[in-house]
Amino acid sequence: MGQPLSNIQVRSIPQISMPGFLAHWLFLQWKNLRAPPCIKSWIPWLGAAYEMGKAPLEFIEKARIKYGPIFTVFTLGTRMTFVTEEEGINIFLKSKELSFEQAVQSVVSHTATVPKNVFLTLHDKLYVAMKGKIGNLSIHQFTDLFTEGIHEQLKNLGTHGSRDLNKLVRHILYPVTVNIIFKRGLFPTNEMDIREFQQHFQTYDEGFESGSQIPEYFLRNWSESKKWFLAFFEKNILEIKNYKSGKDHSMTVIQTVFDTIKMATNEKICPNYGLLLLWASLANAVPVAFWTLVFVLSHPNIHKSIMEGISSVFGTPGKDKIKISEDDLKKLFLIKWCILETIRLRAPGVITRKVMNPVKILNYIVPAGDLLVLSPFWLHRNPKYFPEPETFRPERWKEANLEKHAFLDGFLAFGTGKYQCPGRWFALSEIQVFIILMLYKYDCSLLDPLPKESCLHLTGVQQPEGPCRIEFKQRK
Ligand code: HEM
Repeated sequence: MGQPLSNIQVRSIPQISMPGFLAHWLFLQWKNLRAPPCIKSWIPWLGAAYEMGKAPLEFIEKARIKYGPIFTVFTLGTRMTFVTEEEGINIFLKSKELSFEQAVQSVVSHTATVPKNVFLTLHDKLYVAMKGKIGNLSIHQFTDLFTEGIHEQLKNLGTHGSRDLNKLVRHILYPVTVNIIFKRGLFPTNEMDIREFQQHFQTYDEGFESGSQIPEYFLRNWSESKKWFLAFFEKNILEIKNYKSGKDHSMTVIQTVFDTIKMATNEKICPNYGLLLLWASLANAVPVAFWTLVFVLSHPNIHKSIMEGISSVFGTPGKDKIKISEDDLKKLFLIKWCILETIRLRAPGVITRKVMNPVKILNYIVPAGDLLVLSPFWLHRNPKYFPEPETFRPERWKEANLEKHAFLDGFLAFGTGKYQCPGRWFALSEIQVFIILMLYKYDCSLLDPLPKESCLHLTGVQQPEGPCRIEFKQRK
């Protein structure tokens, strides 16, 4: 027997409309998941570059206040999507859809002319080699080299004087770092050559961010400095490769890098990696050494405690050529806390990852191809992670398990994940030795107040906005 029509209809409504209803519901959900708000301009490729370029660090914070915790900035043909709160940060730290290599590849290609295929072939191998050479298990081997190198440079400082502290720190740490990373004696020794090296490095470093985005053709001075360094490494390549270190003939950091390159690809690319490592080893560690000394000297109580620590380990400070051991560094933990607190306050403006597949953050979908960007500088000013964030408080580092090589939660100055900065222990150790020797040998005081940090760059730590002079007098 046939069923009455009304019965059929009643039963078939849920069967037919359930998938339709589900599709409609999913469509509504999808509509809610749109791309984050985007800051751009009417100018096609430039986008917000002009507005952002005036003071990029301030621009990010103002955009966060105006647009909320996630927003995109379209600039110089690139979509940069900033994440500024917990969910976005967690995705930045954990998502498998993001790639470090794809984010930095074009930067490396622009700033050091390393082709994409070479970079991708070498990157992981070089990272492993660097980690082995200057990771936390090997870093003790460098303490003597830092001590010896800094003693040698301090001899040129004379018995007393006043100088711009930033220049003074560069004068000491550029040669020390270059001679350790590359080969002893590579850094020039006559005044004119030193000045040339320093000027080219400053030009290259200051233009690094523009150079990573704008065709080299438009950046004449920057391009000249880049070529100067490539020629410098080209000229010295054989000497660097054949160099045998005095003591145990152990390889220098760049020799390890060159060896890895030789095994995997064409050695012609060695000078380009020389330039990359030069920049990575000086661009952040040297300004951090400057800021640390400025913070210490402008906090009399902290300065006093550090001097007491130094006296208890090495005896009354004086002009002796003291030796510093790994154990001594451990005992002087307040200095390490001061360095980390300095890095917290002057942390890199941004770290980036390329979005390989769309990721959902809050109610937004961040499309593939975007650069996902996190600002350690601003994250370190979030009171949830760092109470009284603007105050220089080294003792907050008491909570960090530094013995186990762990930093504080929310501290991202060295990046995160598989490719976290491989030079972090090298930097911390070098700066510690520098602070100890400077304060042991010289009675130091600042002639200017603590300068403001410049908001001009997003890449790397900040430079001071103006000069800051130091007065120093050799101890008896
Ligand atoms: C206070 C000083 C330093 C700071 C704040 C710093 C910060 C950083 C950051 C944020 C990254 C990117 C990591 C990421 O995105 O997850 C990085 C990468 C890197 N750093 Fe450092 N760095 C410092 C010192 C050094 C030193 C002294 C060296 C070498 C001796 C060095 C070598 C490198 C290299 C080679 C990379 C690239 C790693 C890769 O390609 O996988 N850094 N650094």
